Amino acid sequence: MDTVIEVKNLTYQYSAGNKALDSLSLTVSRGERVAVVGPNGAGKSTFILHLNGILNGEGHIKIMGMTVEKVNLPKIRQKVGVVFQDPDHQLFSPTVFEDVAFGPINMGFSEKEVKDRVSEALGKVGMAGSEWRPPHHLSFGEKRRVCIASVLSMSPEILVLDEPSSSLDPRSRRELINLLKGFDITLIIATHDLEMTLELCKRTVVIDRGAVIVDGDIREILGDESLMLKHGLEVPHSIKFTHSHTHDHRRDEELHFHSHYHPHPEIHEHKERL
Ligand SMILES: Nc1ncnc2c1ncn2[C@@H]1O[C@H](COP(=O)(O)OP(=O)(O)OP(=O)(O)O)[C@@H](O)[C@H]1O
Ligand SMILES: [Mg+2]
Repeated sequence: MDTVIEVKNLTYQYSAGNKALDSLSLTVSRGERVAVVGPNGAGKSTFILHLNGILNGEGHIKIMGMTVEKVNLPKIRQKVGVVFQDPDHQLFSPTVFEDVAFGPINMGFSEKEVKDRVSEALGKVGMAGSEWRPPHHLSFGEKRRVCIASVLSMSPEILVLDEPSSSLDPRSRRELINLLKGFDITLIIATHDLEMTLELCKRTVVIDRGAVIVDGDIREILGDESLMLKHGLEVPHSIKFTHSHTHDHRRDEELHFHSHYHPHPEIHEHKERL
């Protein structure tokens, strides 16, 4: 498969502190959607800030074959859109328009193309018409949407989101999930919203103390109660609350009934025993 992110033995220490990343390694293929989970302080955000060279630790990172180093950063930042955990770190312009237009202007698009990209990106996140509002007047959830728009306007090939659903109301969270479901680009999502990751991702990586603890099938990993508790997590409700009752399966056109446990979101018909 086509590897788009390759991280080998990444180690990073903030000036005064313990190692935030400790020999972290991870490979992501094109089109994968990967949930990065782990307790507060695990190193998720620190890891994400390495993917487009904002932080620069020891080790090797390659994005679509390019080593993350100064000379490649302009190209890498067009390919990898990073939405920060804190919107106030992402929005710095006097107007929403300027924040969302920043990337496309830097990419050298014409004035018309920039305008089109801004309105398309704002439309996608449900913020159409907010071009001339000052970002610091927006609510937290609105700021978060504008941050996502400011990255979408560059049409990235890899989208990296740090806690994208935090502070969103249920409707906005649902819209975000649907928006992300519609993308076929590579997605890396660091979050505590495990139910969201179950809807979006087949693969999860648990990070703790700056290292990868497990990496694999999301339902298997998030369903492992002792593993979850050990790393400050919980088995999500949709996996935990299973129920047992009789239901039917069609096998070779013949209907038979049996009973077993299955997670609630599994869709099936409930039928009375004949
Ligand atoms: N600017 C900073 N200066 C010093 N230490 C930092 C800084 N930012 C983070 N750290 C430390 O680095 C470690 C990893 O933090 P990081 O923010 O990457 O964790 P996280 O997994 O994103 O946590 P959360 O779930 O709370 O967002 C923590 O011990 C944190 O205290
Ligand atoms: Mg974080």
